[in-house]
Amino acid sequence: MALERTISIIKPDAVAKNVIGEIYARFEKAGLKIVAAKMKHLSRKEAEGFYAVHRERPFFNALVEFMISGPVMIQVLEGENAVAKNRELMGATNPKEAAAGTIRADFAQSIDANAVHGSDSLENAAIETAYFFAATELCPR
Ligand code: TYD
Repeated sequence: MALERTISIIKPDAVAKNVIGEIYARFEKAGLKIVAAKMKHLSRKEAEGFYAVHRERPFFNALVEFMISGPVMIQVLEGENAVAKNRELMGATNPKEAAAGTIRADFAQSIDANAVHGSDSLENAAIETAYFFAATELCPR
């Protein structure tokens, strides 16, 4: 098993619900360490850039509006198979389809306000980490 790093974002709906600590506890109980973190109110440009891959999708504008509707909490998680482990903790994109006990099942209301983001591959984890963090902001490996 590989020690990986991945990006997690607690989205504006979950920050507004005051559940950052509860979500952090899930990461920690699953053996994921927080090796960098910052709270940020994304600009429109930052949100559009982050989700550029979805630019042509019908939900793109609503997604950007949602992501800039309040502050987000962005963290780098480290652990064995961190990318897949974080995705497992998050649950399916649509909270109605998310397995019981997952973050989205417990804290998300809808597919567009779904509490958390997690990188979907190691390659995207590296790209997303560089998007939000300078190398000096991460705990050394
Ligand atoms: P996606 O990368 O498909 O999901 P995930 O966040 O699980 O990796 O989509 C990115 C975000 O876009 C998703 O978290 C919420 C939003 N979205 C919608 O608003 N409507 C949709 O139909 C889909 C597929 C995504």
